[in-house]
Amino acid sequence: MAPASFGGSRLPSHVAIIMDGNGRWAEMRGRDRAFGHLRGARIAKQTIETCAGLGLDQLTLYAFSTENWKRPRAEVSFLMLLLGRHMRKERLNLVRNNIRFSVIGDVSRLPAPVLEEVEKTMAATSACTGMSLTFALSYGGRQEIANAAKALALDVAAGRMSADDITEEALSSKLQTSHMPDPDLIIRTSGEFRLSNFMLWQAAYSELYVTETMWPDFEKAELLKAFEHFAKRERRFGCTKAQLEAGTTADEVTP
Ligand code: FPP
Repeated sequence: MAPASFGGSRLPSHVAIIMDGNGRWAEMRGRDRAFGHLRGARIAKQTIETCAGLGLDQLTLYAFSTENWKRPRAEVSFLMLLLGRHMRKERLNLVRNNIRFSVIGDVSRLPAPVLEEVEKTMAATSACTGMSLTFALSYGGRQEIANAAKALALDVAAGRMSADDITEEALSSKLQTSHMPDPDLIIRTSGEFRLSNFMLWQAAYSELYVTETMWPDFEKAELLKAFEHFAKRERRFGCTKAQLEAGTTADEVTP
């Protein structure tokens, strides 16, 4: 598929977003954190529809990390409630927009009614052929890599492969993201310069965009600004600019 573009600019094919700052946004307004999450869910919906409208191939949203389970019980319950409701309310819209929904993470930890809504949404959108939308839920990059290493170890122990067959590709194939390309662009809102255990393996060559804007204020114009920055980045993947311009990336040489 040809890469999508807007205003003549090259768009990333896979965008992944760390939606941060809901709590601070609400607290700055003298409101409780739930207010920020509510507004955050609205911005998530808007972002999903904008990305699908622009013709992006993949959008991944970090909606709940493994570490988020450590938050106060009331906040975790609210986030789970919001997630279940979002799944129920948005299911039909996703189908209408031809968006295929899936998840990465340890979803077995989700409350049963929430998991049911998630599964219903995956089933309802399974035949959609437009943008792939992935929610990272109860997700941790280190856990994902450890699980992949364990799967490889089991294959070696069972004689299905040898230790020499363990390559980057072999490990990638055991990740929950094995069916999707690595993110071209990772956006983080609220000004924190860290990945917070998000797609650690997959982020090797992702362009990073950090904005001070809190997630509840990350309106469409902010998203387009991130895409404009991406369009100006030069992605060399370890090669030189001259090589990329000439389209002649040499085989690896050992001096
Ligand atoms: C970060 O804000 C956000 C989260 C913990 C989860 C993201 C959740 C949403 C955007 C709302 C639910 C989304 C959907 C799609 C239903 P924070 O609480 O870490 O903010 P802080 O860093 O200011 O405390």
